[in-house]
Amino acid sequence: MINIENLQKKYPRVQALKGISLEVGKGELFAYLGPNGSGKTTTIRILTGLTKSTSGSAKLNGFSIEDNVLECKNQFGLVTQAVNLDQELSIRQNLDIHGRLHGMSRKDRDAAIKEVLDYVELADRIDSRVMELSGGMKRRVMIARAMMHSPRILFLDEPTAGLDPVIRRKIWSLIKKIQQKGTTVFLTTHYIEEAEFLADRVAFLQEGEIVSVNTPQHFIDEMGVWALDIMAHGELVTKYFRDMQSLDAFINGRELCCTKRRVNLEDAFIARTGLKIAENGGLNGSAAGASPHGGAHGPHGGGGAHSAQSAHDSSKHSSNKHGSAH
Ligand SMILES: Nc1ncnc2c1ncn2[C@@H]1O[C@H](COP(=O)(O)OP(=O)(O)O)[C@@H](O)[C@H]1O
Ligand SMILES: [Mg+2]
Repeated sequence: MINIENLQKKYPRVQALKGISLEVGKGELFAYLGPNGSGKTTTIRILTGLTKSTSGSAKLNGFSIEDNVLECKNQFGLVTQAVNLDQELSIRQNLDIHGRLHGMSRKDRDAAIKEVLDYVELADRIDSRVMELSGGMKRRVMIARAMMHSPRILFLDEPTAGLDPVIRRKIWSLIKKIQQKGTTVFLTTHYIEEAEFLADRVAFLQEGEIVSVNTPQHFIDEMGVWALDIMAHGELVTKYFRDMQSLDAFINGRELCCTKRRVNLEDAFIARTGLKIAENGGLNGSAAGASPHGGAHGPHGGGGAHSAQSAHDSSKHSSNKHGSAH
């Protein structure tokens, strides 16, 4: 559904994309995961015709973004990172203008507005002005607007950035629901847990290059099942284990300042990109020690095991859970 070949984008000061190649299948929910400045928005801007690539090519549902601009525009809906609704107008008016721009008849527009607002659970706010809505509601209106013309592909650029955890989960369910309708979803995010929760496949993006593409589960399985975050000499080192027995054998009665938790996508991201090492300075071994240990997959319950779901959680939790050494 989305085919990208060797896409490059050079700005005067920076090469934002250094040759991206990617295929996203019909109905797939694909997460494009990378830190700020890694080239996520640039990729979406090129795919949606908002900016031109320096070289390379891309197709949406078989239509070339260079040669078939108009056909391409009908293939996708776009939810940009910044809110770009008309704040003075009502939800209904914002959606209606979008329908007109897509050449929809009055009847089709009215039906679509009703349908998409039911979908994002904002039907009762149809005549509210956008300026009266909360951040999460505005984001849902943007998603509703992008779905108005029943696109085959939905591009979402950081759909939950800056939203609180409850609203974020609400948007996650909405995105899943849209995928279940058969829409292909291409989502950018710098929240690792968002990619882990939502995506069928995820690409790790770093400084304009794709480091790796696979399913979240594949990345996680590659690392192991259990992780042990150990603080030693002011440094955090993480060890990975296939089962709890090997983890316990590693600890072997030693008094370590450590936290047990399930392996998550962040571990794989760090191992692949070394990004956390660069950011936090000198956490050597967290990536270098990222080799999965032997042993069969063991029982998952257990002991003082601690599960960290997110990038933020895991750093928060990497403190003193099992007593300190010195
Ligand atoms: N219009 C622009 N002009 C010059 N440089 C840009 C422009 N847009 C983005 N960049 C640069 O390209 C790189 C990638 O940016 P972007 O795609 O916005 O990253 P992300 O969305 O992953 O945060 C950054 O170094 C950014 O500063
Ligand atoms: Mg961006």
